[in-house]
This record gives sequence, C-alpha cells and structure tokens, in this order.
Amino acid sequence: VSLKSYNTFGIDAKARYWVEIDTDEQLRTLFQLTEFLMAPKLILGGGSNLLFTRDFEGLVIKMSIQGIRIVREDASHVFIKAGAGVNWHQLVLFCVQNGYAGIENLSLIPGTVGAAPMQNIGAYGVEIEQVFDHLEAVDIRTGETRIFNHAECRFGYRESVFKHEAKGQYIISNVTFRLNKNPVFHIDYGAIRETLATMGITEEKLSIKAISDAVIRIRRSKLPNPAEIGNAGSFFKNPEISKDQFETLKTAYPALPGFPTGDLTMKVPAGWLIEQCGWKGKHIGNAGVHAKQALVLVNHGGATGSEILNIAYKVQQSVEDKFGIRLNPEVNII
Ligand code: EPU
Repeated sequence: VSLKSYNTFGIDAKARYWVEIDTDEQLRTLFQLTEFLMAPKLILGGGSNLLFTRDFEGLVIKMSIQGIRIVREDASHVFIKAGAGVNWHQLVLFCVQNGYAGIENLSLIPGTVGAAPMQNIGAYGVEIEQVFDHLEAVDIRTGETRIFNHAECRFGYRESVFKHEAKGQYIISNVTFRLNKNPVFHIDYGAIRETLATMGITEEKLSIKAISDAVIRIRRSKLPNPAEIGNAGSFFKNPEISKDQFETLKTAYPALPGFPTGDLTMKVPAGWLIEQCGWKGKHIGNAGVHAKQALVLVNHGGATGSEILNIAYKVQQSVEDKFGIRLNPEVNII
C-alpha cells in the first residue's frame, strides 16, 4: 500500500499491511488479526507530523473513528468527546460555531483528534492540555481499554507520555475535551493582536470566531498548505537554553529573540536560528527550507524521506556550529 496520500510530506513510502479503523467495534476485532498480533505496528492519524525515510515492513493502522458529541455540561463548561479520526480543524470549527471556547487559537492545525494529545499540539499561546479532560486508549498488548486522565498524560511542550514510556503501546480511540462557555481570550502571542486590528476587530467585537479567523489568516500567510507543498509544520522544536548561554549569545547577536520558560531557562525560536544560518528559502534537490518560515522543511515534489532528512541534518549542523545549540526534531522520523 502506498502511503503517499497519508503523510503530509507526500513521501512515497509503502506499508506491508494496512487497515483502516472506523469504529470502536472494529478496533476490538483488530486483536483477532494475525497480522496485528505478529507485525510491527504504526498508528496513523492525519500523517501530518511524521517523515517516512523507508518503507514500513509492518501494519499501518489508520485511525478514522468519527463523531463529535457533547457528553456532559455544567454552568461553565461543555465536555465534548471526539473520535480519534476526527479532523482537528473540524472540531475547532464545531466549537467556534457553537460558542465553546478554548481551542480557537489552535485553528487550522493539520492532523486528527487522536494524534493531538501525543505531542500536546499548541499554537499562539494555547496548548491542548489546557482543555484536555481525558482520553480512551486501547492497550496494544492486551486489547483492554483504559482511560488516561490529564496527569497520566504527562503533558509538556510538544510532549506527552505517548512519546516516552507509553510509546507505541496504546491506540488512542477517543478524546474528551473540556471547553469553556465563558471565553478567555488569548491574543498576546505573536501577530494575533495586529492581525485582529487589520481585520477591523476592536476590543468590543472580540470573539472566539474573530480569533479563529485571525489565526487562520496568520497560518495561511506563513505556513505552506500541505495539499500544495509537502511539509509537516515545524520540523524542529524550539530549543530551551540556559539564561547564561542566552546572555552570551545576545552579546554576539543582539537581535536574538527569546522568552523565559523558568528562572534559569529561555526558549529561542529555531526558525530565527535557521534563518540566520542562511537556510531560509534554500533547497537541496527537491527538499527545501520554506521561504516564509525557516522552521518548516518542505518537499518541492518527489523528494524522498532521506532527502528531507539530509537537509534536516545539514540545518541542524549549521545551527550547532554557529550558535552551539542542538535542535531536536519535532517530527516523528520513521
Ligand atoms: N522567525 C524568524 N525566521 C523564521 C521563522 C521565525 O526569525 O523563518 C522568528 C519570528 O520572527 C518570531 C519567532 O521566530 O519572532 C517565532 O516565529 P513563529 O511565531 O512563526 O512561531 P515558531 O516559534 O516558529 C511555533 C510552533 C508552531 C506554531 C507557532 C505559533 C514549535 C516547534 N512551533 O513556531 O507550531 O504554529 O509557534 O504558535 O513550537 C508545529 O508545531 O508544527 C507548528 C507549526
């Protein structure tokens, strides 16, 4: 099975076995498949955060469980349960249209609901852990369903237990979010405030719909549409460095941006570092660094996973040589 249309980088890798799961029922019957029990497994959501560098000699399980429903509400919150296969932005639109606040800043993030908690997706000052209630996952060894509450997910910056101790051991089937009936607006990050202003949205007209529209506008202006140019969003995480290292670098590079993440640590934008190394808009063969956002690697058409990985190594190396900072991939490399 070709995986080309199942990964947003558009890499033409192949899977030995393939199964698509549409219901919780089907997920249970998976455990009767010999291929399931024997083969290495890869759980696939929207394929928007991974890079295939080779064929997958195992079973790819494409999670397509649908459904968005309100399971509980109280005076201030709505609890919404969504299937792992629900497109993330569809959930955002559902919430925005119904006045349920909390994920409007996460508009237009590619991928699915089931994949969202894995890396605690975040953008423009909000991360899903802020609205996460619990999730249901099936243990890959026993077939038993278990609940992970917020603490058990061990969320961090683009991190969760599912990238560490629980890696490859659970299939997330449903996620329940706790949205606010009374919105708390987050407009201090990046260009949101000025974008709202250019859209003619004043303080009185501020709404979750307006924020969603502003985020969509910003994302469309700098991030390549995977349907047109293959990519997986930010390729690296923004690195955290010590305040001491930051101050030293700041003397050499006065324009270095950064924001505190603790008393002794600073996070610096990897996109800035990569741009300073001259990579923005460059390419090697069909693999390139996006011209409007240096943190995004792109497939200009026909690139292999190895070509993308090759440019990633080169970018990583030049940032390390110039700044002494090691960039770590945010994308899952297979
Ligand atoms: N910058 C540059 N040059 C570049 C890119 C960025 O100088 O080529 C500078 C910008 O000027 C700005 C700073 O870097 O001062 C931050 O840039 P931006 O707001 O575009 O965000 P980012 O830090 O590069 C992160 C997330 C994105 C998320 C945005 C908005 C990570 C790894 N990435 O990017 O998430 O959309 O913030 O919140 O944390 C993703 O994870 O796939 C992703 C797209």
